Amino acid sequence: MDKFVIRGGNPLLGTIKVSGAKNSALPCMAAAILTADEVVLENIPQVRDIETERNLLTSMGAEVELGYGRAQHRTSIQCAVLSDPVAKYEIVKTMRASSLVLGPLIARTGIARVAMPGGCAIGGRPIDLHIKALEQMGAVITQEHGYLEARAPRDGAGRLKGAHIVFDKITVTGTEDILMAATLAEGETLLENCAREPEVTDLAALLIAMGARIEGAGTSTIRVHGVEKLHGARYRINPDRIEAGTFLIAGAITGGDLMVDCCDPSHLGSLIAKLEQAGVRLDIGEDSIRVRSEGAGGSGSTALKAVDISTEEYPGFPTDMQAQFMALATQSEGTSTVTENIFENRFMHVNELIRMGANITVSGRTATVRGRSPLQSAAVMCSDLRASAALVLAAMVADGESILDRVYHIDRGYERLEEKLRGVGAQIRRMGDVFGKR
Ligand code: EPZ
Repeated sequence: MDKFVIRGGNPLLGTIKVSGAKNSALPCMAAAILTADEVVLENIPQVRDIETERNLLTSMGAEVELGYGRAQHRTSIQCAVLSDPVAKYEIVKTMRASSLVLGPLIARTGIARVAMPGGCAIGGRPIDLHIKALEQMGAVITQEHGYLEARAPRDGAGRLKGAHIVFDKITVTGTEDILMAATLAEGETLLENCAREPEVTDLAALLIAMGARIEGAGTSTIRVHGVEKLHGARYRINPDRIEAGTFLIAGAITGGDLMVDCCDPSHLGSLIAKLEQAGVRLDIGEDSIRVRSEGAGGSGSTALKAVDISTEEYPGFPTDMQAQFMALATQSEGTSTVTENIFENRFMHVNELIRMGANITVSGRTATVRGRSPLQSAAVMCSDLRASAALVLAAMVADGESILDRVYHIDRGYERLEEKLRGVGAQIRRMGDVFGKR
């Protein structure tokens, strides 16, 4: 298993580019199931979850071409025939977002067999709200041997039916799954208490380009007028706001001067506000943000200041930035509280940061971070995607050389992270199995 070796102490200087959004790419690739025509997606990040999505689609009979060379961020998907509409456990267990094919498969083929996603490091993450909504649209869903067996109602045209759906809880992939299903349903679907994340708006824009009739994406209420058929499209997905946010904190924590390029600052409002509150200087451009700070080395007015955060659904502070912001808080003067409201077990990074010398206590859903704590290098363990990003940030300011184990977690959602960071001055390299097989 690959590891990162990171020597701390280098301020990040220069320009770093943001890739396309993983959490847009996954639903947009699943949306190709809704048509027999070719769907071409641009700005697709080269991360492991995209390969998993490709394997999932090809296992069902789709033709998927991931671009390379100059076209390396372009993907062409054609689901002319879905010979085997099954999302197999071997794939679903490696990526929960595989369940995003449930709605599109039922809507397009009338049947679907999708392995139930098991447990996850950050929380239970059930998909009960997806199932409940599809049942309201007339789907018949049973659970057998760890699989959801689903089929559209047999009466009428065997299509899902439009319905009035109010989500009990705001769910991102739940909104996306049902939005896709509703595009081919009979009649109108009204979705309420929807997720407003930019990834939902991105998916809706692709669906509209495919001929769907959707109003209100990006708000809590979305109205979909079902159509008989969708057609192919070419679409460029959004930049990754979480990767951009991670780079902003990398610039701030290392005391650098970093231009985060090819991002969309309008998607980062809550993070920008918190970073400015912490005393980080940000120059906001149209598709870039320059971040400057004295970082851990600052004192008095230039020191990073403690700030409290509480994760919320968009446009609130994103849970996918919580761990990275906690790393910054370890280098801030004063006491910060970090409250995680979305997932019940998203503090896996805390004990690893404590191993590096951070002063953090956890009580329920709130972590209290007492800064500033000089961090020491250590061997630490990656556990999930964003917790791992926080360890990379901490290691870049720690005294000495840290070794991060299981960086495959990072490869799931960050494209060539070590190369990008090395390009702006970080001392980071990828190593094969340093300690030998366990
Ligand atoms: C999406 O996950 C993202 N993943 C996550 O990013 C992100 O953390 C999350 O939204 C919240 O912003 C993708 O888009 C692929 P939810 P999702 O359904 O859709 C509960 C990353 O790091 N819930 O909005 O799975 C759930 O347990 C990943 O890139 C139900 O109870 O999250 C959670 O507590 C990690 N029943 C809350 O709702 C359901 O049927 C929000 O989850 C669905 C969700």
